[in-house]
Formats: sequence, structure tokens, C-alpha cells
Amino acid sequence: MRQLCVIAGLLWLSLGGAPWLAAQRAQAAPDRPPATDIPAAAEPSYPDLAANDEPTPRINGPRVVGTTPRREFIYRIPATGAPPLTYAVTNLPAGLTLDAATGVIRGKVEKEGATPVVITVRNRYGAARATLRIIAGKNKLALTPPMGWNSWNVWGTTVSDEKIRAAAEALERTGLAACGYRYVCVDDGWQGRRGPDGVMQPNERFPDMKALGDFLHARGLLFGIYTSPGPFTCGRYVGSWRREEDDARLYASWGADYLKHDWCSYEGIARQKTPAALQQPYAVMRAALDKTDRDIVYAICQYGLGEVWTWARDPAIRGNLWRTTGDIEDTWASVSEIGFRHSPLALFAGPGGWNDPDMLVVGAVGWGAQTRPTRLTPDEQITHMTLWALLAAPLMLGCDLTQLNEFTRRLLTNPEVIAIDQDELGEAATRRDAAADGTEVWARPLADGRLAVGLFNRSEDRQTVTAKWSDLGLTGRHAVRDVWQRRDVGAFDRLFAALVPPHGARLVVIGGRRPAVPPRRKVPSPSQPLPSQSP
Ligand code: GAL
Repeated sequence: MRQLCVIAGLLWLSLGGAPWLAAQRAQAAPDRPPATDIPAAAEPSYPDLAANDEPTPRINGPRVVGTTPRREFIYRIPATGAPPLTYAVTNLPAGLTLDAATGVIRGKVEKEGATPVVITVRNRYGAARATLRIIAGKNKLALTPPMGWNSWNVWGTTVSDEKIRAAAEALERTGLAACGYRYVCVDDGWQGRRGPDGVMQPNERFPDMKALGDFLHARGLLFGIYTSPGPFTCGRYVGSWRREEDDARLYASWGADYLKHDWCSYEGIARQKTPAALQQPYAVMRAALDKTDRDIVYAICQYGLGEVWTWARDPAIRGNLWRTTGDIEDTWASVSEIGFRHSPLALFAGPGGWNDPDMLVVGAVGWGAQTRPTRLTPDEQITHMTLWALLAAPLMLGCDLTQLNEFTRRLLTNPEVIAIDQDELGEAATRRDAAADGTEVWARPLADGRLAVGLFNRSEDRQTVTAKWSDLGLTGRHAVRDVWQRRDVGAFDRLFAALVPPHGARLVVIGGRRPAVPPRRKVPSPSQPLPSQSP
């Protein structure tokens, strides 16, 4: 078997698979669309990641999006290619309109139902076409994991209106919005005091929350806000305790599209950690959100207490994502310990509800006024993004987007990595093999019948990682595509092996596309007793 691995590895190399630490490829795309702010000094050396800047049009992001009839719907078609792009759609559900210059679809869908909308994006190099299913109905939010940016990992409690607007503008300028990152989330630190009427007032750094929401919506971006069920948040700002209805109404009046509901200081109230006590605050906020007339994605952030993944989908709670861990840090120990323990949780992720292993710690982070580059090496960042995409994790950026370097841009804009994360089947990866040498193989099935497979090396030495068909449920000969490099590698029998640097990863898709069958996947229903599992 060892010989076979070596042969497969050599075969892969001879087919042109560059070793990870090979010099970066020159970018050759003609007419690159204006890309990023790239401070030359901050550029790390990095392995071979595709540039993702081809001039031809490409439609990115999910192939399905949900909305509640008669509620505000905003969808910015994520598309890349040399500007100017123009957008056209056929078969929009009644109540929606498209802005052909910006690609933003808005309005209120009138009736329930699933509508296949054909999108065409054009520029002088050609056209791209894709079908987006717009599903209008009750509880149809987060049909794929939310993607966006959150202020916490970069600005901590120094967040301000100005920083949020700068992040939104950078999301557009860097091409990230065109890849599908669309929620812009204000985390802890926006709160002031409650007025005499009990209504929460933002602090002086947020002069007008409604105007901020409008600013985001005008760009086709969505607005996220944060609170905590106790009297105080983790940052010692005022929480929503006993004010949930007032607060939910206020957020809706600002145009909020996403609420992160934390836990801090509630433990002083829920002294018993019974399931009922742990669930209570999330049910209270759910009821408050239901009284508003907005679609608000509900992000539960209590670090996985009481195996939250087993009850977060309960009808009384209906979380759309739930943190499975404490706060992530920008260290290998933190990212690997969190990411690699999610295999038993895969069962709980699926359309409408996602395990949330916390935000991405790539790029310039800081948790306060000062930023610094992430402490993760380039290979560790590739592992981070590879694993999060395989886990069908929410992709929330936590970095200063105004300092995005070329490495980070490539890492975050690979449309094939994003397509894996956003795959509409919504089936999260599980570990298929783990060897004593620290190598692991994880895989998730995709809606088009292919398999997305991660080859990981958790060890300190360069290793050959082998994905054996027998571990993947495959037989016969299969095409393999390298996702980070965005090129076909060849067709392989029985296994695919590749050299992987320490703490690094390769991401491949295996198999040929089959005609798309509308995916029907069962996720555990809260009414059924669930197996109790720990990560
Ligand atoms: C933590 C949470 C962080 C951040 C912080 C704000 O509980 O996990 O993501 O929101 O609170 O104080």
C-alpha cells in the first residue's frame, strides 16, 4: 500500500501538481478587474493558490436562497468578471425587481413557492448563466451557511459606524461581495443606554443605526446586529434581559437582517444548567423576533452549552446557526482543535441550521483598536478555509478588509471553495480516515453527485496524504480536480495521494458531474429524539 501511495504521489507530481511551497505562479489574466488594496510590505510568501480574477463573467455564491412572502428581500447577485457587468433575469417571482446595473434583486415576494430564476451576467468577454432557486415560504432562511463579515475579531469593542461603513465599502472594492459575502455584522460594542422609555440607544460611535442599515441595503448588503440575553454582554455593554421584544422591534426598525444572540451574564440568571434553562433565553428571543415583520437570521452564540446542536432547531427556538465552541483564536492550536472535532456534528448541519465553529481568523485581526496579521501560517490558513468549507460552516470574515493582501484575497475569493461551502445539499463533511502520522481525510457529498475531499496534515512534517476510494465509498476510475489551484489533476483508480506540508491541506473534488437532481436531504427533526453526541 505504501508503494501505491508513493506511486500515486509521483504520478500527481508528474501531472504537474506543484509542491505546496513552490514559487507562486505569475498572474496572467488579461485585463484584471480592479482588485484590492494590497500593502506590498504585508504580503506573505504563499503556496500556489489560483488568482481567481479571470475577466469572463462568473456567477458565484449559493444556487438557492429563501425568503418569507411579503417581507423585505434583498439579494445582490454575486458575480465576478471585468467590469462593467450587466445583469438580466427571467422568471422573477411576482413582487421582486432587478437593478440591471448593480445586480441587486429586491422587493417582497407575493406568494409561497419555489421559483427557478435564470440569471445572466454579461461583459465584453462573454456571458455566464446560472439558475437561482428563490424559495418563498415560512422558515426558509439560511438555506446555505451565511457568509459575510463581523466586527469582533478585528475591532472588538472599538467598533464604530465609520468602521462598519469602511468594511462594507471594502467588501465591494476587494471583490468579496461579488463572491457572496453579504452580511455585515456589528458585534458587541454598539450599545449605549436605555432611554426613559426603555428603548435601547446606540452609543456615540453609532449616530444613526437606521441610516447605517439603509447604507448597507442600498449596496445590496445585509445588516447584522448583536445582543446578549443577560443584563450585560461579554463586553459589559447593556444586554437584552427582559427587553427582548423591545429590542427585537428596534432591530427590525433599523432594518436588521441577522441577530447574533450571545450568552454572557445570563449564567448569573440560569444558575441551573438544565436543558430547559439553557434553552429559555433563546426561545424568548425567538418569540420576540417572530413578532417583527422582518426576516432575521438567528445566530445562537452560547459556545455549544448543553449540546446546543441537538435542540437549536426546535420549533420554539429555530436557530439558523449555533456556535459549537468557545471563541476562536488565531493560533493553530485553536483552529485545529475546533475544526477537527466537528465530525460527529455533521448530522446536525443542513439547510436552515448550521454548526458554527466561529469566525475566520485570517487577514489582519486584533480584537481592538490595533490590528496585526493573523498568527496562522499561510498553510494553516488554507487548512482553516478548507475545513470550514467542508464543514458547511458560516463564512464570517473577522479581519480588516481595508488591509486585505493578495494571499488573503486569493484565500477568500476562490469560487470553487465557496461553492463547496454553499452547496445546496448542505451535508457537512465527516472524517473518513485518520492515520497515526497526523494525516486525515474528510469528505462531503455535493448536490451534483461529486465528493469534496480534504487531505489534511496535522503533523509537523511534510507527509503524503492518501484518500482511498474505499474510505470514500467510491469504486472505479474518477476525475480529480484541485480546488485551490482550480485545475483538473487527472483520473485516478483506487486512491488519490498528494504531498501536504505541515499543518497544510489540499482540497479536491472527485467524480464527474451528474445531472443535477433537486437535492432532498433529511436533517434531524427536533421532534425526533436525537442521539446525544459530543464533538
Ligand atoms: C463572545 C462571543 C464573541 C463576541 C464577544 C463579544 O461571547 O463568543 O464572538 O461576540 O462575545 O463580547
